[in-house]
Amino acid sequence: MERTAEYWNSRYQENNIPWDICQVSPAIKKIIEGLDKNTSVLVPGAGHAHEAIYMHRAGFKNVFVCDWAEASFRYIREKTEGFPESHLLCGDFFLLEGAYDLILEQTFFCAIDPSKRTDYLLTAKRLLKDGGMVAGLLFASHFPKQGPPFGGTKEEYLDLFKPHFDILSMELAQNSISPRLGNELLFKMKKK
Ligand SMILES: C[S@@+](CC[C@H](N)C(=O)[O-])C[C@H]1O[C@@H](n2cnc3c(N)ncnc32)[C@H](O)[C@@H]1O
Repeated sequence: MERTAEYWNSRYQENNIPWDICQVSPAIKKIIEGLDKNTSVLVPGAGHAHEAIYMHRAGFKNVFVCDWAEASFRYIREKTEGFPESHLLCGDFFLLEGAYDLILEQTFFCAIDPSKRTDYLLTAKRLLKDGGMVAGLLFASHFPKQGPPFGGTKEEYLDLFKPHFDILSMELAQNSISPRLGNELLFKMKKK
C-alpha cells in the first residue's frame, strides 16, 4: 500500500519508528570510511539520518538529507551542531533537484511502493553527476506480510537496475545488525 507523507510524519511524531536502527549500519559505515570528505552525498528517505550525522561529525561538508516527514528532522537538529538547514530537504524524493556524487540507500527503497521502483532508479540517475553512484543496502528477500517494508531478490534488483547502472557489487552483507543478518544485500552501482 502506498503511504503518504502525513502517514510517515505521524510515525515520527508518535516515535513509532521500529525501522530505525539507532546507528549507522556497519556496512554503510565502511562505505563512508572509503569516501573523500568533499563527496556530495544525498541520503533519501533518511528518517533520523544516522548516516548524515556520522558524516557531519567526521567532517563531511556536502551531505544532504531528504525526507518528506518534517518531524523526522527534529532528531538531526538535536544531535548535531551546525548541520546546515539548507541541507535538510523536506519534500518528495521523486521531485528533488540537484546533482550529487553519491546517493546512500538505507531502508528507503523498501519503503516505497514496488510500482515506483523504476521511478526510484530514474530519479536517482537524474540526481547523480556523471560517474555518480548509488550504494547501500537492500533487503535480500520478500517479506511474508504486505509492506512496507517491501523486499526483493538480487535477480529482481539486477534486472531493474542494469539498464541504467553498472553494478559494481551486490553481495550479502557480512556485518548486518543481527535482526537483518543474511537478509541484506550490500551494493554499489555507477550511473551509466
Ligand atoms: C522505513 S523509513 C527509513 C528511514 C531511515 N532511512 C532509516 O533507516 O531509519 C522510510 C522513510 O522514507 C520516507 N519517505 C517515504 N517516501 C518518501 C518520498 N517519496 N520522499 C521522501 N521521503 C520519503 C519516510 O518519511 C521515512 O522517513
